[in-house]
Amino acid sequence: MTSVAVLGASGFTGGELVRLLLGHPDVEVAFVGGERAAGSALREVHPHLGAAAGALVVEPNDAVTAPRRTTDVAMLALPSGASSALAPALLDAGVRVVDLAGDHRLSAEAYPEWYGFVHPEPAWLEKAVYGIPELHGGAIAGADLVANPGCFPTGVVLALVPLIRAGLVDPASAVVDGKTGWSGAGRLATEEASFARAEESLRPYGAPGHRHTPEMELAIERATGDACAVTFVPHLVPATRGVAASCYLSLAGDRVSTGDLTDALARAYAGSPFVRVLADGEPPDTKRTRGSNVVELSAFADPRTGRAVAIAALDNLMKGAAGQAVQNLNLMLGLDETAGLPVAGWYP
Ligand SMILES: NC(=O)c1ccc[n+]([C@@H]2O[C@H](COP(=O)([O-])OP(=O)(O)OC[C@H]3O[C@@H](n4cnc5c(N)ncnc54)[C@H](OP(=O)(O)O)[C@@H]3O)[C@@H](O)[C@H]2O)c1
Repeated sequence: MTSVAVLGASGFTGGELVRLLLGHPDVEVAFVGGERAAGSALREVHPHLGAAAGALVVEPNDAVTAPRRTTDVAMLALPSGASSALAPALLDAGVRVVDLAGDHRLSAEAYPEWYGFVHPEPAWLEKAVYGIPELHGGAIAGADLVANPGCFPTGVVLALVPLIRAGLVDPASAVVDGKTGWSGAGRLATEEASFARAEESLRPYGAPGHRHTPEMELAIERATGDACAVTFVPHLVPATRGVAASCYLSLAGDRVSTGDLTDALARAYAGSPFVRVLADGEPPDTKRTRGSNVVELSAFADPRTGRAVAIAALDNLMKGAAGQAVQNLNLMLGLDETAGLPVAGWYP
């Protein structure tokens, strides 16, 4: 059994991570960390876990580095800034790390502009492997530090990389329209996230400076070698889970068809258990991905305007966070990438 610590276990993403890991056949959850929740029983912090939470008690996050702890892998579901403060001590002690925050996804120079802090450990940042298993599986297997991608970048990068690699679209022309449910904002209640404010409201936020923008551009560039420019506008919708991203790009020529786009996606993900490519531009649906580690993708050509539209839908807490983190963990441990992960979603 691999001994795993979950830091930020009291949050939404951390709770989903613990739920998955408690059902994982090859993993033992040895430590659960929190901030305000430290000292509380895990079953009180996450009553939905019921008896599966056992006798686990939430400890202060930084207690994970105490002497004589035996942790093989630490999974950090912490706010940005907190994970890059804690990760170096773990890595220096030989603990492998999966970071679900944004602290290891960009280059050091990008952090002041996009995250508002100077990165404290550029040397570890350079060693981080960006964790989209369908694109970087080999590198993830040998990594000490995996940067688990953001929810929107996961869908957008998976949708666009095969189309760009096949030369079907212009990577400099990407416009991404995103929709997200409110669990993407985390557990801490604010008036912004209250039912009275969020119900029946659909509104853009974070544009043009959303942190996922440089992450999408860098990840696409790393995977394709092509410079990419993205205009990204996310919107909050009155739902709990799910993100959908509609990506608009110029077609590379007037003969590119919906069939060409769909074939490129289908070929790229033929052996990928968690990528569901839909035929003939059939629309992806967040509802079908809820509770699963699946991302649905489709694409169609609009020859009248010379544009391609590629669409991704996924569960932000699963393929967009905790599910993908477990998929990365499986690759790091040499396990089947589906271990402990649902392929079927909940419905309705
Ligand atoms: N929500 C999503 O859909 C999603 C998707 C992809 C990635 N992520 C990333 O995952 C991370 C966690 O997000 P979340 O949505 O799970 O947030 P969350 O529900 O607010 O949980 C945050 C966790 O971090 C702890 N925490 C808060 N302030 C802290 C501090 N200063 N130092 C150390 N720990 C602190 C909290 O502990 P207490 O509650 O005990 O105070 C809690 O365990 C973020 O970096 C987020 O960007 C989230």
